[in-house]
Amino acid sequence: MIILDEPTNHLDIETLSWLEGYLKTYPGAILTVSHDQYFLDHVVTEIYELDHHHATHYKTNYSGYLKQKADRQAQAWKAYNKQQEEIAKLQDFVDKNIVRASTTKQAQARRKQLEKMDVLEKPAGDNKTVHFNFTPTRPSGNEVLKVEQATVGYEPDKPMAGPIDFQVNKFDRIAIIGPNGVGKSTLLKSVLGKIPFLKGDAKFGANVDVGYYDQEIQQLNPKNTVIDEIWDDHPMMPEKDVRSVLAAFLFLADDIQKPVSALSGGQKARLELTKLALKHDNFLVLDEPTNHLDINSKEVLEQALKDFSGTVLFVSHDRYFINELATNVVAIAPTGSTTYLGNWDYYQEKLTETQAEAAAAAAAQPTAKTETAGATSYQQSKEDARAERKLQREVDDLEQQLQDLSQQEAKIQKAMTAPDVLSDYVKMQTLQTELETVQKQTAKVEDAWEEKGIQLEDMHADNN
Ligand SMILES: Nc1ncnc2c1ncn2[C@@H]1O[C@H](COP(=O)(O)OP(=O)(O)OP(=O)(O)O)[C@@H](O)[C@H]1O
Ligand SMILES: [Mg+2]
Repeated sequence: MIILDEPTNHLDIETLSWLEGYLKTYPGAILTVSHDQYFLDHVVTEIYELDHHHATHYKTNYSGYLKQKADRQAQAWKAYNKQQEEIAKLQDFVDKNIVRASTTKQAQARRKQLEKMDVLEKPAGDNKTVHFNFTPTRPSGNEVLKVEQATVGYEPDKPMAGPIDFQVNKFDRIAIIGPNGVGKSTLLKSVLGKIPFLKGDAKFGANVDVGYYDQEIQQLNPKNTVIDEIWDDHPMMPEKDVRSVLAAFLFLADDIQKPVSALSGGQKARLELTKLALKHDNFLVLDEPTNHLDINSKEVLEQALKDFSGTVLFVSHDRYFINELATNVVAIAPTGSTTYLGNWDYYQEKLTETQAEAAAAAAAQPTAKTETAGATSYQQSKEDARAERKLQREVDDLEQQLQDLSQQEAKIQKAMTAPDVLSDYVKMQTLQTELETVQKQTAKVEDAWEEKGIQLEDMHADNN
């Protein structure tokens, strides 16, 4: 069993994919804490949601959890509302009839019923959804933006990425992806005319009102309070409206008087997005808008952008967000852009296909080589086998000689024990000399046999 605390934090997309693949086939149990919705969707099979009072168990992945949670909440509200109605009816009857002689008995019975009732707690989560939304003042034309043959960078002799080509049509949600530092933020700034393209250009269509969310959140004044930050742009807006628009993006009443400098990264991001929503543009250009946001805030933003009746071009590394929102993915590399007509999962599929094709093409080349190598090695092994067989015959031959020699030796030794030899010194001497010759010969053959035997063993190992 392995326990992982936020294992996906800080990992780039490639490493993440590897980790997910590894964990999916891990032959043991995994217990993990994570805010990464894509990771939760693709790796986990059960979820425990913790709040301050208890844990709720869901036997599903993240998408399933969202559905089940919404269902549970809807059911809880239905039951709660139904019971509240019943309580109101009973109470009404009690109030009207308790003092009437003819009906007081029934009223008392109902009052008992009310007293005994297990009153359901008001469900968590808001019934009337606080709604954060982006609403355009006017619609744009059908063609929103066209980027053609664009190269981005800060120095003409050091282009970062290009040629980049893509088109943005009304209602598109286009995700720009690519490794850190490839020039995605630079591309957006060039599109907005903040820095020049090195080559190519970007053209906006008719009636396009552009709203921009900066990755660095540099558009806020750190000295302002949260509420002043809104009032700077909208001095006539009544305080209660400012409060409700901030509440829609999860600002608590207490946060509103805080100076911007004291806000967390997530709060700053939410303030900036709230300001953007108040501009009512019809084309939103967002540079990593989910960067500092927690899951709740990401979901608020995701829903608002899904419901938006305008067009969105966004840079993101957040796979779940891209998957939920993107209609197209534009992948930026130093050599230029590739457009994929789908969301993150589609992009992944295409990428895997392309890689498989490349691998197959690469494999096709060496296959030819392996085949010729195969042909030569076939020749080679034929020769090797012949050599091995030759050596084997030599070894067999030596073994036979050894057997003959040992028989001769036994024969001589037997002869030396014969009574006539034992009494005949000359005969004995002759046999002794013969025996020594055979033994010397045996030693010689044994050496050769040992040597060839080792050679044969080696050759056999090499050939197999
Ligand atoms: N004003 C500048 N002058 C010169 N170089 C810059 C400037 N701003 C950024 N760069 C460099 O340009 C490169 C691309 O930066 P950019 O911010 O466009 O990358 P990015 O793709 O958005 O990366 P990330 O995914 O990290 O946001 C980086 O190497 C960065 O250091
Ligand atoms: Mg960037």
